[in-house]
Amino acid sequence: MRKKISIVGAGNVGASCALYVSEMEVGDVTLIDIVEGVPQGKALDLFEGSPVRRADAKTTGSNSYDDLAGSDVVVVTAGFPRKPGMSRTDLLNANAEIIGTVADAIREKAPKAFVIVVTNPLDVMTYYMWKRTGFPRQRVMGMAGVLDSTRFRSFIAMELNVSIEDVMAMVLGGHGDAMVPLTRFATVSGIPVTELIPEARLNEIVTRTKNGGAEIVALLKTGSAFYAPASSAAQMVEAILKDKRRVVPVAAGLNGEYGLKDLHFGVPVVLGENGVERIIEVPLSESERAALEKSAREVHDMIGELPK
Ligand code: NAI
Ligand code: 2OP
Repeated sequence: MRKKISIVGAGNVGASCALYVSEMEVGDVTLIDIVEGVPQGKALDLFEGSPVRRADAKTTGSNSYDDLAGSDVVVVTAGFPRKPGMSRTDLLNANAEIIGTVADAIREKAPKAFVIVVTNPLDVMTYYMWKRTGFPRQRVMGMAGVLDSTRFRSFIAMELNVSIEDVMAMVLGGHGDAMVPLTRFATVSGIPVTELIPEARLNEIVTRTKNGGAEIVALLKTGSAFYAPASSAAQMVEAILKDKRRVVPVAAGLNGEYGLKDLHFGVPVVLGENGVERIIEVPLSESERAALEKSAREVHDMIGELPK
């Protein structure tokens, strides 16, 4: 039987994710949104292109959470972006309401699904999804580390004018200003980037990575990034459904790892058929650990603002 991937939220990230996932041929895709006609229209449009793209996956659209039934993986992109004049707390409250509704529906209709949260503020929404579904922590994770890392990798490739295929790099921590790009572990075909890029320039690339989301917002003006986020979420779907055991940073539920607990937070994990198979604890320098703890404090503070 084919696998089923449901994507809640058929906006920019959700619809692009449906495209990338359908091209991976890992299963059929259902787009769910509250706006009438939009998920149906986007899913039909995608399916009509599938013969020329040779993407053998059904894509359907719906306005009902009933269609979550039978999902193996649910990707949640439903939510608002931060608008001018909106405080961080306003965004948190608005999106927590949506995540609460979606979590209840997933628990009821798709109790065996893996859940990948994309909605911002990412780490907090992932934690809330985990709490509300009551699912094991291996099955509820957030997408941000793959995105922040792919941005870091692409900037390094641009700087050195080398193939993106040869650049590996990881960004840990929360999906916010305090995220932690780990320059010490970034390599080009095994060569540490610290040997290839002067420290001052590498620091500029780190800053650009941290501001990666804002850079796209400043250019688009009417929304935030979606191609890189959607492809990052699709890579996580593929890792689970193909049991690839990819080593990627995801917002995982921590229970003492890295000395942290009671939060979802970006750490390297092995991602496979059981979801978060294992959290990898990388030995960190004092400054890296301090940066990670600062980021964790920000996430903890926001968790404290969630509805009780
Ligand atoms: P968008 O505005 O294009 O799409 C959001 C969609 O969610 C809309 O179509 C809306 O109708 C739908 N929606 C709202 N409430 C819903 C509900 N209760 N059930 C189902 N659908 C509902 O926004 P975009 O650009 O797709 O971003 C979506 C979210 O993802 C935002 O919160 C954004 O900040 C976040 N994001 C997170 C990233 C990450 O790295 N974690 C990267 C990019 C975006
Ligand atoms: C990003 O990093 C908006 O979180 C989103 O592009």
